[in-house]
Amino acid sequence: MSGLSRGLSRRLVLGSAVALAACEGRAKSQPALAPPLLKSLKDSATFPVGTCVQVSHLDQPLWVQLARAQCSQLTPEWEMKMEYILQPDGTYRFDRPDRIAAFAKANGQRLYCTTLVWYAQKPDAFVKLDESRVNFASAFDNYITTVVGRYRGQAVGWDVVNEAVAEDGEGWRQSLWADKLGDFDHMRRAFDLAKAADPHAVLFINDYNLESLPKKFDTFQRLVERLLKAGAPVGGLGCQSHLAADLPGGAMTRTLQALARFGLPIHVSELDVSLSRVERRFAPRAELERGQAALYTETAEAFAGLPEAQRFALTLWGLRDKDSWLRGENAADAPAPFNDDGWPKDAAHALSDGLSAGLYGNAKPRR
Ligand code: G3I
Repeated sequence: MSGLSRGLSRRLVLGSAVALAACEGRAKSQPALAPPLLKSLKDSATFPVGTCVQVSHLDQPLWVQLARAQCSQLTPEWEMKMEYILQPDGTYRFDRPDRIAAFAKANGQRLYCTTLVWYAQKPDAFVKLDESRVNFASAFDNYITTVVGRYRGQAVGWDVVNEAVAEDGEGWRQSLWADKLGDFDHMRRAFDLAKAADPHAVLFINDYNLESLPKKFDTFQRLVERLLKAGAPVGGLGCQSHLAADLPGGAMTRTLQALARFGLPIHVSELDVSLSRVERRFAPRAELERGQAALYTETAEAFAGLPEAQRFALTLWGLRDKDSWLRGENAADAPAPFNDDGWPKDAAHALSDGLSAGLYGNAKPRR
């Protein structure tokens, strides 16, 4: 028997024994645990697999062990945003983003950063700015230049503009930034500033519900076209992919194929699959879990089927169910690939199967 198959059969036996022991140790009423992953998520993929991270995770040995094993890229979930960095008096604090950056570097993981300009964040330092003393545009320029410049040479990319499109697809969202610096011009300005601060970082425009709201997706694509036509250094397109477990099959594939037509790198930037944010609220949990697994496979397979130059990264928005922002909305939600104990669910195996499609060439490049 070759080394690989011997190793494989031994892992299978060990994995089954561990899974069995874990099952026996659990109350009989609880669902059986899925077996361990044969191959980590990052080793199953031909592109970076990431997760979001908070500084509080870095003090959890089990999270650290899981993230090191499974992921080759990290995105600060909130501590690289204005809400953490920009103090009410206009000063900046970088202790936590610096710690996350150092952790990524120490573990050979890429650092992806979010976000610079977001309608949802308008810190007092800007809202209450004394414009008789400090020009708003100068403060805006200084923020982007300082923050992007600080991680120059480490950050592989930035969400420069986040969630700019109105949910109903009727134009762009109103925001403090648009009011002060122009609906379109503030976005163009942000991309130019980020490019000047870090010429090597890939600069993204990022949004959500692109796979489920056709009008919003159309408006997003038209905004991308307008930015590119205006010469804005848009280097990539972020599809957040906060999915509902009953999203019809094929929607993610069609969305990634449509985005691929721009010829730019694509980042599935915030993937999770909610069991609670579903249309069919009374569907059996097991059926929703099957839908969740199918969507993890489809998303990974569709991404793996993109041309290599366009496979920027696939990032999970929470490795374990208890890490997910969605738990704050519904304690019963279980949107992540790993359970609260960091054990792989069927969703993790489904994700791994989809990622592997690209590895073994089963994913057909989609033109
Ligand atoms: O950890 C602190 C806690 O110590 C403190 O007591 C508490 C109250 O101030 O705040 C806690 O931090 C919160 C953090 O999440 C961790 O839970 C922040 O206030 C809160 O603003 C932050 O929310 C994040 C949110 O973006 C806003 O930044 C979520 O974690 C994060 O998942 C969410 O991510 C967004 C993406 O950026 C954009 N797409 C949608 C996605 C989900 O909303």
